[in-house]
Amino acid sequence: MELMQVQGLLPTNFIFYITAILLTVIVISWKPLPPGPMGWPIIGNMLMMDQLTHKGLTKLSEKYGGIIHLKMGFQHTVAVSSPEMAKQVLQAQDNIFSDRPATIAITYLTYDRVDMAFADYGPFWRQMRKLCVMKLFSRKRAESWASVRDEVDSMIKLTAENSGLSVNLGEMVFGLTHDIIYRAAFGLSSLEGKQEFISILQEYTKLFGAFNLADFIPWLGFIDPVGLNTRLPAARSALDGFIDKIIDEHLKKEKKAVDENVESNMVDEMLAFYSDENIGNNVDDLQATIKLTRDNIKGIIMDVMFGGTETVASAIEWAMTELMHTPEALKRVQQELADVVGLNRRVEESDFEKLTYFKCVIKETLRLHPPIPVALHQSAKATEIDGYHIPKGTRVMINLYAINRNKHDWKDPDVFNPSRFLQTGTPDFKGNNFEFLPFGSGRRSCPGMQLGLYTMESALAHLLHCFTWELPDGMKPSEIDMGDVYGLTAPKATRLVVVPTPRLFCSLY
Ligand code: HEM
Repeated sequence: MELMQVQGLLPTNFIFYITAILLTVIVISWKPLPPGPMGWPIIGNMLMMDQLTHKGLTKLSEKYGGIIHLKMGFQHTVAVSSPEMAKQVLQAQDNIFSDRPATIAITYLTYDRVDMAFADYGPFWRQMRKLCVMKLFSRKRAESWASVRDEVDSMIKLTAENSGLSVNLGEMVFGLTHDIIYRAAFGLSSLEGKQEFISILQEYTKLFGAFNLADFIPWLGFIDPVGLNTRLPAARSALDGFIDKIIDEHLKKEKKAVDENVESNMVDEMLAFYSDENIGNNVDDLQATIKLTRDNIKGIIMDVMFGGTETVASAIEWAMTELMHTPEALKRVQQELADVVGLNRRVEESDFEKLTYFKCVIKETLRLHPPIPVALHQSAKATEIDGYHIPKGTRVMINLYAINRNKHDWKDPDVFNPSRFLQTGTPDFKGNNFEFLPFGSGRRSCPGMQLGLYTMESALAHLLHCFTWELPDGMKPSEIDMGDVYGLTAPKATRLVVVPTPRLFCSLY
């Protein structure tokens, strides 16, 4: 009888102990999601969609901390707004956080993400990145740098022609960067199609930013209020028609084996990886390993257009805006140009290194107005940050705007004060100081930084050295609209309009 009782009890006790151990393990290893506002069933925090901007996320981080969690429909979303958390994502665990989130529109418009900017981290992305860094955006590609110089010269000429008149500087610098990148990508002979290409780009920008319910709740894809189902194929076929024609023209040109001194552009450069004939002994290492399809070429052209035009243009417009808004800084930077270069000649590239305060103006502009205010990454697997659970496939929004203005690392963070960069030990933007990240950091950081900085420096140095600037119609600096609009970039909400007057004793063109 006693034996039977023991036998009967054993399994019950056994189950109890195993359950207790399992529960303890679950409780110990269970990690909460990062803090954040409560959401609704199914839709989660989707009613807060309008707060997912650089400024909205900054406000939320003031309430919930440097890492916050939101649920957009079925999509886990984490916003990172402090240097410490950014370091976790971009350095300590960058192998996990180097994927890119892609919406349905992005996936469709990038031919299923066969470009570089929207490709997930992996061997394909690595090859594309190598091609961009070593060939397309390299300092060795003198043609890109030459197109910056030529187009800046044209802008100075145009400005001089409008001396004493109100000039829409915002529009002018957006035109400048489109011309530079268009020329660097396609070459001079293609300039005539520029307007058609810009309208394709504008439609792409709208589609990239359009709200699509199916991105968050996949089974509601039939609800299509902005007509994505027809606009997406129309936009892609317009781009196909445009770039296919250019590729065919370049291929014909190659076949004719034109003069080797002809200026090469990015399409030419990529076509070296397109032809099967390149596999052989007479090719460099990169050509032997990378093969490009037409879709790859189209995708990369779009990356360059999106990455290299609005970013640089908005940075130039913001620099001029902040200087007009802070007359002492404008006076000081122009005095430096007069002292270092003199008023008898135009500024040259070799002068840039000597323009210490001018360089501080560039840095301070990129600190206050990082052209890409929020960098988007995605987690490739489940992980933990600061004791919080981050599920696989979480969309990570790195708020570069909030990081660059955080109160712990920057005194009077919202004030435009270029002199702060004169102090030794002030952070630099190369990606090692996580309190100042205009170009991001780590694997997915900006590959076009050198070209972008060169364009920004050239345009600003010439504008500031060649002209004195005034606001139109007696407007006061304090009346300048300092608001921005949030999208892929954060340009000024209203364009900067200013009046130039030549200030050099030599001819401007
Ligand atoms: C002032 C100028 C510029 C700034 C501030 C800037 C900033 C950035 C930032 C913040 C990122 C995202 C980093 C991340 O996701 O962590 C990025 C990525 C990128 N940028 Fe720039 N950028 C500039 C100019 C350019 C130019 C001139 C080009 C090309 C000609 C370019 C091409 C790209 C590309 C292709 C990527 C995606 C890289 C990848 O996914 O691996 N950018 N940039």
